[in-house]
Amino acid sequence: MPRVAVVVVAAGSGTRLGASSPKAFVGLDEHTILRHCLRGVFGAPEAQVVVVAPPGFEGEARTDAEEAAGPRRELVTIATGADTRQGSVAAGLAAVWPDVELVLVHDAARALTPPEVFARVIDAVERTGWGAIPVLPVVDTIKRVAGGEILGVVDRSELAAAQTPQGFRRDILDGAYRIADREYTDDAAVVAAAGHQVATVAGDARSFKITTPADLERARGLVAGHPVPAVPFASASAARAPRVGVGTDVHAFGGEGPLRLAGLEWPGEPALSGHSDGDAVAHAMVDALLSAAGLGDIGGRFGTSRPELAGAHADVFLARTRALLSDAGWAIGNVAVQVQTTRPRFAARRAEAEAALSAALGGASVSLSATTTDGLGFPGRGEGVAAFAVALILPA
Ligand code: CTP
Ligand code: MG
Repeated sequence: MPRVAVVVVAAGSGTRLGASSPKAFVGLDEHTILRHCLRGVFGAPEAQVVVVAPPGFEGEARTDAEEAAGPRRELVTIATGADTRQGSVAAGLAAVWPDVELVLVHDAARALTPPEVFARVIDAVERTGWGAIPVLPVVDTIKRVAGGEILGVVDRSELAAAQTPQGFRRDILDGAYRIADREYTDDAAVVAAAGHQVATVAGDARSFKITTPADLERARGLVAGHPVPAVPFASASAARAPRVGVGTDVHAFGGEGPLRLAGLEWPGEPALSGHSDGDAVAHAMVDALLSAAGLGDIGGRFGTSRPELAGAHADVFLARTRALLSDAGWAIGNVAVQVQTTRPRFAARRAEAEAALSAALGGASVSLSATTTDGLGFPGRGEGVAAFAVALILPA
């Protein structure tokens, strides 16, 4: 009999997502949001898994849960949800087995929460004896506004964004739910209203809640890419060290239209060939950034199978790369890139190129140098260009 239960609330309709089925049953690839979420749950320490399904979707929920559970399907319980999230959590709690001492409540909509977050929450509840929730630091400057005007700034250092799974001693959570007399925004608020303390642990950028179509797009992108390696992202805590990455790229002259290189158009210069615009400088930078974050490489992330990237320019690749890093909890420190080519001559437009590349990365520092190779090799013979980039990234 497990001592831990995870209540996965999946009974919402997903109004803001606006899909034709309830949100938990929308596909990320061939699997639903719920199925992806349960993969994380079953990768965590062993627990009873209570899936709270929308009325009428209990069968679908069981299928997803048993597939995700594999040989541990006896750990699965299905409950029927209610009109509000709080009601659905209460329905899940009612289905928790008698011997369970510690309960985690998790949003199915946080489909990509990695198993280590569950483990961190469980550890903190065991250690403190009460409750713990994962949080992420708030990165944006927060303003108090009313009627279109700024009233004041809120001190960001005191703020944190709350995620799930939120874990509690079972008796504390049950008791708090019994006396809750209004709707609270999360389970920690229900428990706090009952007079209990709640601790925080490091959350994870991948734990974002799929709420809008843009969130769904982001989750589908993450699922479609390489599986995100567990090691570099084991924790979103400030203890993560900076990381460096390296990238190179080569393109041959012989493309159509004007040359695109280092984020600029070069009228009168011969174009480079490639599935996209052949901008070897930008591509080396993308590879350096992906390599720093352990997110694979440009071929895997933006492969030639993506028709929407045919003819795409540096700004698209760099902006998407920055978004991938940001999703994984990384900010860009700086990128240094060197291009080897006989033409074009960079001296007059170096600063302009740096500014364009930097803007595409949301303002991160980019330094660009150019060199000829004394007539040696393919760059020296004017057959193509080679670019080499190094990136430094920092925990966001
Ligand atoms: N949830 C639930 N029962 C409800 C409402 C929400 O189990 N009556 C669950 C959702 O399935 C989701 C989690 O609570 O996993 C977080 O809720 P939210 O993201 O708001 O999902 P929805 O309520 O489905 O979406 P929306 O608010 O856009 O309708
Ligand atoms: Mg909702």
